[in-house]
Amino acid sequence: MIATALAVLAAAAIHNQTSPNPKMKWWTEARFGMFVHWDMSSLAGTEISWSRKGSKPLDITGDPAGYVGDPVYDHLYERFNPTNFNANDWAKLAKEAGMKYVVFTAKHHGGFSMFHTNLSHYGIADTPFKRDILKELFQACRKQGLRVGIYYSPRDWHQPDYGATDSAKYHAYLMGQLTELLTNYGKIDIMWFDSFGKGDSISYWKADEMLALVHRLQPDIIVNNRAGYFGENVPSLKGDFDTPEQRVGEFQNNRPWESCMTVVKTPDGGGWSYRKDGQIRSLQECWQALASCAGGDGNLLLDVGPDSTGTIPADQTEVLRKLGELLKQNGQSIYNARGGPYQNGPWGASTYRGNDVYLHLFPAMFMSGNEMILPPIDAKVLSANFLEGGEAHVSQDQSGLHIGHFDMTRPPVAVVVHLHLDRPAATLMQNQTPIPVPPIN
Ligand code: GLC
Repeated sequence: MIATALAVLAAAAIHNQTSPNPKMKWWTEARFGMFVHWDMSSLAGTEISWSRKGSKPLDITGDPAGYVGDPVYDHLYERFNPTNFNANDWAKLAKEAGMKYVVFTAKHHGGFSMFHTNLSHYGIADTPFKRDILKELFQACRKQGLRVGIYYSPRDWHQPDYGATDSAKYHAYLMGQLTELLTNYGKIDIMWFDSFGKGDSISYWKADEMLALVHRLQPDIIVNNRAGYFGENVPSLKGDFDTPEQRVGEFQNNRPWESCMTVVKTPDGGGWSYRKDGQIRSLQECWQALASCAGGDGNLLLDVGPDSTGTIPADQTEVLRKLGELLKQNGQSIYNARGGPYQNGPWGASTYRGNDVYLHLFPAMFMSGNEMILPPIDAKVLSANFLEGGEAHVSQDQSGLHIGHFDMTRPPVAVVVHLHLDRPAATLMQNQTPIPVPPIN
C-alpha cells in the first residue's frame, strides 16, 4: 500500500516536470527557433528602432527613445527595396539549421509595419518593394513544416497618437493592427510581444484587453511574458513562457522559458537587426548556448538580421547551417529532451529523456585532461556511446561517473555522450533540482 502510494507520488513528481499546459507541448519539444529582426533600418545598418534618434523625450515606458521625428531614419523606408528577398530561402535555412519555428518582427518599437496594414502609411506597402513580407515568409515557413510567431511591439515611437495623455486612439490602433495580424495570416502559433512598460504603460495600452483579443482570435496561440513589464507581479500578463535576453536562462523546469540571443554581437549589446559593426558569434558559442538552454530546460530563439537587399548575410547563414549539421548527429540530445539530471556549468550541460541521459561536454573540459568525473548518480549505466559514433568509456564508482579516453584530436565543437540508465533520469534529481557539478580546472 505504502509502496503504491510512494510510486504514485514519484510519478506525480516526474509528471510535474512537464509543462501542465498542453498548448506548450510542441514548443517545449522544439527547443530551437529562429528570430528575425528586419525592416528598413537595415539600410542604415544601425540598430532597429533604437537608432531612431534614440535620445529624448523619454518613452512612456521610461526608455530613452523619442517620439520626435528623426529626419534620416524616418525616411529610410522610401528607399527600402529588398529585391533579393526570397521567403523560401529563409524558411529553408531555418529548416536546415534544425530550427522548428520562426518569429518575425511585424512591427518593432520604431512603428514600421512589415505587413500590409490599412491603419498606417508607414509600412512595407509604402516602400518601393510593396510586397507583404510577413505573408510570404509565413507561407514559406508552413511549407517547410515550421511554426510561425509574430513579434509585435505595443510601444510605438512613430505612431502620432502614441504618448498622448488619452490613449484611446492609440489603443484602437494597436487592437486594429493585432486584429489584422491575427485574422489575415492564417494560424499563428506564437505571439511575441516586446514591451517592458511598467505601471501606467500597461494600462496605457490595456495589456489585458490586448491578450484577450489575441486568445479570442487564435485560440491555440501561445504568448510570451512581455505584454508589459515582463509580466512580473502581474499574473494575468505572465503569458506562457519567460524570455531571458542575450544570455542563457537559469535552470527552470516548472515554467517554460526561451532565451533570445543574437547570432551577431555588437559593442552595445544589440545586433538584433543587420548591423554594419556586427561581429558573428562562433559556432562553438552558438552550439553551447543551445545545449545550455536545453540543459536548463529551456529553448533558444537565435536571431538573424537580414541586410537591406533581403539576404541573410553569409556569415550568419554559415553558422546556422553548421548548427544544423551538428543537430543531425546530436539532435536527439536536444529535441524533446528535458534539462538535467546534472546542472549546467563550464564542464557542459546535460539533458535526458526517459532512461537516456545526454552529456554535452564543452571543450574547456576535454581539453584539460582525458578524463572527467561527474558526481555519482543513483543509477546503473547500462551503455554509453558518443552520438557522433563510437563507444564512450564510462565507469562508475563511489567517487562518481568517470568519462574518459577522449580522442584529443576530435574537433571540439559538439561532443555528446549518451548514457542509457537502468531507471528514469528524472528520479535522480532531488525535488526536481539537478545535481550540482563542481567547477573543473
Ligand atoms: C530588446 C530590444 C529589442 C529586441 C528585443 C528582443 O527588447 O529592445 O530591440 O527586439 O530585445 O528580445
